[in-house]
Amino acid sequence: MPCFEDVFFDFKPAKRVWKPLVKRLVTGTWKPMTLRPGQALFPAHLKRLGLYLHVPFCRNLCPYCPYNRIEYDEALYARFETAAHQEIDLYSRMMDDALRRSGRSRPRIYSLYLGGGTPTVDPRGLERLVSHMQQAFGPADDVCVELHPAAMDDECLDILASVGLTMLSIGVESLNDRILELIGRSHDAATAEDALKRALAKGFHSVNADIMFALPTQTLDDLDSDVSAVLRMGVDQVSTYPIFGFPYTDLGRKLGITGIKRPRGTLIREMLSLIRRRSGEYGLRQCAVWSFLRPGEKKFSSISRHHYIGIGPSAASMTGRQFYVNTFDVNEYASALPSRLPVAAVMDMTPRLEMAYWLYWRAYEMEASAGDFLDLFGAALRSVFGRLLAVPKLFGLLEEHGGSYTVTPKAAYWIHRLQNEYSLNYIDRLWGRCRTEPWPDEVRL
Ligand SMILES: C[S@@+](CC[C@H](N)C(=O)[O-])C[C@H]1O[C@@H](n2cnc3c(N)ncnc32)[C@H](O)[C@@H]1O
Ligand code: SF4
Repeated sequence: MPCFEDVFFDFKPAKRVWKPLVKRLVTGTWKPMTLRPGQALFPAHLKRLGLYLHVPFCRNLCPYCPYNRIEYDEALYARFETAAHQEIDLYSRMMDDALRRSGRSRPRIYSLYLGGGTPTVDPRGLERLVSHMQQAFGPADDVCVELHPAAMDDECLDILASVGLTMLSIGVESLNDRILELIGRSHDAATAEDALKRALAKGFHSVNADIMFALPTQTLDDLDSDVSAVLRMGVDQVSTYPIFGFPYTDLGRKLGITGIKRPRGTLIREMLSLIRRRSGEYGLRQCAVWSFLRPGEKKFSSISRHHYIGIGPSAASMTGRQFYVNTFDVNEYASALPSRLPVAAVMDMTPRLEMAYWLYWRAYEMEASAGDFLDLFGAALRSVFGRLLAVPKLFGLLEEHGGSYTVTPKAAYWIHRLQNEYSLNYIDRLWGRCRTEPWPDEVRL
């Protein structure tokens, strides 16, 4: 039997009304967001900046994975690496020019996030890229990396420590061999457990374990045993993700079904409350819709940096004045460089759109700080979004303290459902186009 929220979110006639309305209330416009070919400008006005590096290679392609990744090939990796160094050099020159013209000083790099794909698919290559980025932009306060359990031997962890790695996240996904095989992972439970133990023993600042749930055939007990095991091992953070069936992944085909259906809302809710309960028993507190963190630790997250520049195929950048995305195709990426940045599509941001972008990700992180908003936009959060936020506040989904807002635990699941509607509209549509067209003309969202 479908539950209330499945019916509500899937009822198309109602959706046609409330979705544009919510979008209008948040972004302040009925107009579609449009990305076009264009040029990236270096954001000399920023005092703080995050950096992202996308390494789009994996040794084994998981069939459910929606990220931009291709099978590792030595020659293609070499092409990618050369181009990524050229992209770093181009940005470095742009930064120097922009700072000279504006008379400002370098932005502080508060984090360097290495994502993929499998960033450590070639650890020495990654070391060269990270060193180059730190040299070109200045050292980062935190260096964060996504790790695959089968691509993080001791030598690799030593290399990461030597380039200043502070935070890491391991794609454990499950500690059940039957399920790991069913979803097409290339490692078994013992490899994931060993990887986690070795990472924890190295003394990095923080270790996060990714666990996927609502997996085919998975029961509540299966999930309980996965979550309890990583918590028992002493991780600083656990991030759990209900498997999502992005239209362009092929798990459905592999399993012989026409597309993965979203797991029932009631199951997701039960699983989320189990994860919350177990995390609480080990002293971890909810820090995002699906993540639980040891108090006092910094959050491992790819979305907590508001302004960032992305290097690598498919990397996105958000500078406040622009949001843009690099071409997804590794060969096209390499061909564009070194003469120009490999930017495929650019959206000019209005101040209101930038505020909406900020609010969208703060909702996911379950808190929106009035101080951060004032610092970024020079305005009071309540004066811009107070009327919009009054409605969820009335239903006990939000709490307000001194102009800052926190999402209550019972609202976490609703934020997920709501964001799911928009990510399917925006992220899927943009990613879907960019996957098939290296240089799309207009993309309307
Ligand atoms: C880029 S991957 C992590 C690093 C590494 N490539 C790996 O797979 O171990 C980021 C995380 O996204 C999550 N993820 C990937 N595909 C997903 C899907 N279809 N549904 C839900 N979560 C997914 C997994 O938990 C995965 O660890
Ligand atoms: S889940 Fe990780 S290892 Fe698997 S294909 Fe995606 S990025 Fe690669």
